[in-house]
Amino acid sequence: MDEQIKIAPSILSADFSILRDEIKALDASNCEYIHIDIMDGHFVPNITIGPDVVKSLRGYTKKTFDVHLMIDPVEKFLVPFIDAGSDIITIHHEISENVFQCFETIKNNNKKVGISIKPSTPVDVLSKYLEHIDLILIMTVEPGFGGQELMNDQIEKIKKTKELIGNRAIDIEVDGGINTKNAKILVDAGANVLVSGSTIFKSKNYQKTINELRNL
Ligand code: DX5
Ligand code: ZN
Repeated sequence: MDEQIKIAPSILSADFSILRDEIKALDASNCEYIHIDIMDGHFVPNITIGPDVVKSLRGYTKKTFDVHLMIDPVEKFLVPFIDAGSDIITIHHEISENVFQCFETIKNNNKKVGISIKPSTPVDVLSKYLEHIDLILIMTVEPGFGGQELMNDQIEKIKKTKELIGNRAIDIEVDGGINTKNAKILVDAGANVLVSGSTIFKSKNYQKTINELRNL
């Protein structure tokens, strides 16, 4: 696992009316990933953007597109999001399709594989995936919306995930309600990638907030 803490601003909380400028602002910062939340109004009660929007943003930054697919069914959309320029594709354990089949498609297209679990899903479901993934995304809010409060009962889950992966090169990404006050607790629990949407996009200076999240 990469010891250096990575910051992944979630554009769900960006100003969608100037999305290109928001991507350019993140490109000018030292964030490692750009977290892109895809929602279908079925797997989660919200709808965001599709592959064409991701594709339209790709040319404005070389940063890693960390694409979080909160959609089900998801298999038929994997290649469109890969072709749109995704670098990491994270799907949910809770989907109705074959997760390993989805992993195959992502890997066959030389992209990184992530698996995410909702707050109500126990960590031990992840054991069977460990030899197949690059990243585990622990939801610290109920997926669907930005600006929610961190669910503190998920912190224990991060510790358990860290134990589960041992010294495998798997990133532990946490997502939802992360701010400059709780970031350190999450890193101490074992997270090494912090997703943050409203904390960053509500601030006047994205770089300053990213530094505050990183410096813990
Ligand atoms: C929620 C998304 C998160 C969200 C994070 O379903 O997966 O990535 O955008 O936003 P904040 O940091 O505002 O909770
Ligand atoms: Zn997300």
